[in-house]
Amino acid sequence: MVFRVTLVLIVLSLLSGCNTQQSAFHPGGPHADRVETLSWVLFIGGGLIFLLVIVLTAIAMFVAPERRQWMTNRRFIIWLGIVFPVITLTALLVYGFTVARHLVRPGSPALRIEVVGEMWWWRVHYLDAQGTQRLVSANEIRIPTGQPIEFVLKAEDVIHSFWVPSLAGKLDMIPGRTNVYRFAADRPGIYRGQCAEYCGDQHALMAFYVVAMEPNDFEAWYAAQVQPAAEPMVTQLIQGKELFLQNGCGACHVVRGTPANGILGPDLTHVGSRLSIAAGTYPTNVGTLAGWISSSQHLKPGNLMPSFGNLRGEELRAIAAYLESLK
Ligand code: CUA
Repeated sequence: MVFRVTLVLIVLSLLSGCNTQQSAFHPGGPHADRVETLSWVLFIGGGLIFLLVIVLTAIAMFVAPERRQWMTNRRFIIWLGIVFPVITLTALLVYGFTVARHLVRPGSPALRIEVVGEMWWWRVHYLDAQGTQRLVSANEIRIPTGQPIEFVLKAEDVIHSFWVPSLAGKLDMIPGRTNVYRFAADRPGIYRGQCAEYCGDQHALMAFYVVAMEPNDFEAWYAAQVQPAAEPMVTQLIQGKELFLQNGCGACHVVRGTPANGILGPDLTHVGSRLSIAAGTYPTNVGTLAGWISSSQHLKPGNLMPSFGNLRGEELRAIAAYLESLK
C-alpha cells in the first residue's frame, strides 16, 4: 500500500513537470535559461558527489578491514577530505557568481513595469522613462518579446514573492522597500507566475500571467489599453454599467471613462481582456464574473471584496456581461 502511494506520488510529481506554462525546466528567455543551466550543474554535480560519499561509506562499513587499508592513508584523507571539497566548492562559487552577474546586466531596459503585491493579487503599473505611471492593470503583465524588461517590485501589506519560473528566478516584494530585477522572454507565449512567499489565507490563489507578445502586437495592445473603457451600446450592458455604479463597485474599482474611481481593488477598465479574474484563480467569462461578484467570500475567503448576495440573477448577469465586455 505504502509502495503504491509512493509510486503514485512520484508519477504525479513527474507529470506536474510537464506543465510548460510554469516550469523552471521550460525556460522562455535568457535569464531562465541561465538559471536552468545553473540548477542542472548543481544538481548533477551534487548527485555525483553524493554517490561517491555513499560508495565510500559502504566500503567503510562492509568491506573487510584488511582490504580497505587504503582508506586510513593520510594522503587519502587530505586529498579527498580537504583538497577536493575546497576546489569543488570554490569552482561552484565562482561559476554561481558568474551566472548571477549575467542576470543583472546594466543598460537601459526596453520597458519598466511596477508590480505591487497585495493580499492577494497583483497591482501592475506600466511606467514611462521618467517613472511616471502610464497605465494601470492587475494580475496580468504583458511584455514585448526579445527585450529586457525591468520589474520594480513593491508590497503594500505583507511580504510576497514574485516568481515566473519559466522566465526568471523569484524575488521578494517587501513592504517599505523597492526591489528591481530584469528578465526577457524569447518567444511569444503565456507564462504563469505565482506568489512564492506565504502571505496569508489565500497565498495559494495569488497567481498571475505574463503574456509575451511580438513588439508590434504589444504596441497595438498598449495603445488599446490606455483608452478609457468602451461605452456600452446594448440594453443589457447599459443596465450592467448602471448597476455596477449603483451598487458602489466604483468605491473600490476604477473603470476609466466612468465615475468609478476607487483604488482599493484591481483596475477594471479592461478586465474583459484579461485571461483570469481573482489573480489567476478563474478564467474570465460572464459565469465566473457573476459567481465572483455574488460569492467572492466563498470562492476566496478573507479577500477584501464582500459577496454581493443581494443581487438578483438578471442583475448579476447584466453586471458580469458589462465587465466581460470591457475588452
Ligand atoms: Cu502573496 Cu503569497
